[in-house]
Amino acid sequence: MNDATPTQPSPIQGEGSIGHARLRQLMHRGTEFLGCEIAVMGGAMSWVSERNLVSALSNAGAFGVIACGAMTPDLLDTEIAETRKRTDQPFGVNLITMHPQLSELIDTCAKHNVTHIVLAGGLPPTGSIDRIKASGARLVGFAPALSLAKKLIRSGADALVIEGMEAGGHIGPVATSVLAQEILPHVAHDIPVFVAGGIGRGEAIAAYLEMGAVGVQLGTRFVCATESIAHPNFKKVFIRASARDAVPSVQIDPRLPVIPVRALKNREMENFAAKQREVAQLLDEGAIEMAEAQLQIEHYWAGALRRAVIDGDVESGSVMAGQSVGMVTREEPVAEIIRELAEEAAAALERRG
Ligand SMILES: Cc1cc2nc3c(=O)[nH]c(=O)nc-3n(C[C@H](O)[C@H](O)[C@H](O)COP(=O)(O)O)c2cc1C
Repeated sequence: MNDATPTQPSPIQGEGSIGHARLRQLMHRGTEFLGCEIAVMGGAMSWVSERNLVSALSNAGAFGVIACGAMTPDLLDTEIAETRKRTDQPFGVNLITMHPQLSELIDTCAKHNVTHIVLAGGLPPTGSIDRIKASGARLVGFAPALSLAKKLIRSGADALVIEGMEAGGHIGPVATSVLAQEILPHVAHDIPVFVAGGIGRGEAIAAYLEMGAVGVQLGTRFVCATESIAHPNFKKVFIRASARDAVPSVQIDPRLPVIPVRALKNREMENFAAKQREVAQLLDEGAIEMAEAQLQIEHYWAGALRRAVIDGDVESGSVMAGQSVGMVTREEPVAEIIRELAEEAAAALERRG
């Protein structure tokens, strides 16, 4: 049975309006690339970006992306099948490069003819890009610097996401506004680029489009969507929080390079310091190698995020959130959020004439 809900009309309305026409034009390469109506990707969020939110985004004319996170190939298989039951529109799958079963996960996507694979978490290991290309899927890579953007293009990426440190979850050190200036002028003609991190309103979308992006990726803004399965406690703290509450984690031991994670301040942020000390000690004793140490840190985050998102424990779980959390003010359907973003972007473009 296919219980896919029918697609909504295009969220970019306003027949005859200059702003809407300009928005459609600026997003054209992005919508062509993704195969959707509005070039807004729902950034994959572990535990949050599952069948319900992903299908709602795609049904609203945007582009949902399943967060594979630490899922096994079997779990991913089920998630893709369940998402497909809920939408007949395109959606993508986000895989993390350090997952020990990356090849099998790519094969699972291939089995379902997934059209877009987003690779997060560092440069892809040898062979994985060829495997993705052989499956016929389009490859979207994360470029945290211009040199890496060029490297990804040479390696065969079909599109890039540039994500600044305002974002929720794992972050790099550079702000979105700076990355956009450093990367867009040099590569935006050659490859579609989507900008992510700190985007909460359509005016910002309009600005990045005018700088050469073909679309954007938002995560934080969709956490409190009606269709998001995040626990009511998780949504409540999101709605109460302001930008300054979303802070990056601190690295305790210089020998253990942990990628910072941006989340709302709570007790869990202190627990993470203790976890780092514990893993650093195991490293010192030679009980584990560096790769294992980093994997333990990643598993720690996955567990902590699950406690908050699924169980609603927002004190000892991780409430990952970007600085745009202050612009999340209520629970509302995905289609409404997309419509608001499109209206704000179109109005901004119209004002510029
Ligand atoms: C709760 C949460 C979980 C996230 N989990 C992942 C993830 O598993 N994989 C990933 O590539 N990005 C993850 N992200 C980043 C998002 O995909 C997206 O790029 C980011 O949220 C965009 O910035 P914004 O939060 O400012 O909108 C996560 C973000 C949040 C808020």
